[in-house]
Amino acid sequence: MIEHGIGVASQNKVLILDFGSQYTQLIARKIRELNVYAEIVPYTIPIDEIKKEHPKALILSGGPSSLYEEESPKISNDIFTLGIPVLGICYGLYVLADAFGGAISPSPFKEYGRADITIVNDSPLFKGLPGIQTVWMSHGDKVESVPQEFTVIASSRNAKIAAIEYREKKIYGVQFHPEVYHTQYGKEILHNFLFEICNFKSTWTMQSFIDSAIQDIRTVVGNGTVLLGLSGGVDSSVTAVLLQKAIGNRLYCVFVNNGLLRKDEHTKVIERFKKHLNLNLIYADAEELFLQKLKGITDPEQKRRIIGKEFINVFKAEAAKIGTFDFLAQGTLYPDVIESVSTKGPSDTIKSHHNRVPEVLELIKEGKVIEPLKELFKDEVRELGRQLGMPEELINRHPFPGPGLAIRIIGEVTKERLFILREADDILIEEIKKADYYTKLWQAFAVFLPVKSVGVMGDKRTYENVIAIRAVTSLDAMTADWAYLPEDLMRRISTRIINEVKGVNRVVYDISSKPPSTIEWE
Ligand code: XMP
Repeated sequence: MIEHGIGVASQNKVLILDFGSQYTQLIARKIRELNVYAEIVPYTIPIDEIKKEHPKALILSGGPSSLYEEESPKISNDIFTLGIPVLGICYGLYVLADAFGGAISPSPFKEYGRADITIVNDSPLFKGLPGIQTVWMSHGDKVESVPQEFTVIASSRNAKIAAIEYREKKIYGVQFHPEVYHTQYGKEILHNFLFEICNFKSTWTMQSFIDSAIQDIRTVVGNGTVLLGLSGGVDSSVTAVLLQKAIGNRLYCVFVNNGLLRKDEHTKVIERFKKHLNLNLIYADAEELFLQKLKGITDPEQKRRIIGKEFINVFKAEAAKIGTFDFLAQGTLYPDVIESVSTKGPSDTIKSHHNRVPEVLELIKEGKVIEPLKELFKDEVRELGRQLGMPEELINRHPFPGPGLAIRIIGEVTKERLFILREADDILIEEIKKADYYTKLWQAFAVFLPVKSVGVMGDKRTYENVIAIRAVTSLDAMTADWAYLPEDLMRRISTRIINEVKGVNRVVYDISSKPPSTIEWE
């Protein structure tokens, strides 16, 4: 079943049947950028479920399989009798071609990367677009013969059948990926499918989301009270502001200082949310407790487990002090709840742990959990924050992991190491902001390494700690590239950290991409 929640858009939506492509989420994002609501479902979704959703269009995504293999994902041909327009992309093209009696075979010429297609027959899919255009291909198979009812509308050198249409039934298939940035007119092709062929209206806007989310929250909560764990990060902060708008001071936020936050972070969070936003903010200073529990612990997984468990204990104890609550709110995002058939990276597993622990799952079943951002991608959450009037500084913050600096100190977490790391990290971020690089990076942070190395300061030999700098670019943290920072910026960061942070005499730069490395060191 599709996991619906608060703020669900109208039935003016696209359902994307996911066959496991790495680009499936991108399809949804591109469609939403065109102000149409799109939702991803596994290709195994029963037909009855599709009918209940009343989508105005279906998109069949790409996927890693070959259709003629025995175990390849298949759908019922009945999908094509529902009278709903369909766009098949890559593997999705094979699925629909196969359903209508076309033949799919391995291609002797595989195509990965850019290719040119030529429009060979007029079609609303390519309305207003040039006759030759660059597209992004990624396939080893091809449609060998076109089903009877279909017309070929575009060809490339290695794929004579690069796009087909069954105009009367509004069924379209493309061999290339319109959702990928490198497809020159990808956005226009999706636009044509949605607006020329399916007659969508652009109703999915952030303002319409805010209006319906506030309405839904009010309906669900009634006169009840809501409890939210606030970390100061983008997701929980936007959730807090949205909930406050809907139910005012019946929202209670608990902010736990686990002693693993960045320099001055807890004072900034208190200041911002209590003073400026006037939230009901309960501050729990649990620094000593966490450091006590982490004493002597060096294993990364054990650190995570301890921090996760203690957080829940402190959170519950603080909540109990205030009284009882009717609802628990969480800043869960769409990528965390999609039942995607694509392989998920470790970060997804980690996040789903946080928001989908057994106790929360139980509350979800009882209808006691409110997750207003559950349908949004990260960039949409940022836009929402902007429209709610939140400051850019808060909206553009880099992600910060729940276990905080504990997983950026390799080995045992001590007060002294925390102090060193905080100071180094603060200098790094300050310099990156000054150089106007902060928003260009997905994340930048310092890591404390438990090794000492020899140096010389003045005439004296030193034997001190090493700080590693990690700075990466990424779209969604599933993959990441180490960032090529300007030389003078690197120099300033290193000089300042070594000169200003007592206990550090060496700074190194991490040049590992994800995969095979992860963004965080632990
Ligand atoms: P990795 O290190 O897996 O990180 O490449 C991917 C993204 O997830 C963040 N991260 C976490 N976030 N709790 C969180 O809330 C965690 O335990 C956690 N571990 C990693 C990381 O900062 C990066 O943005």
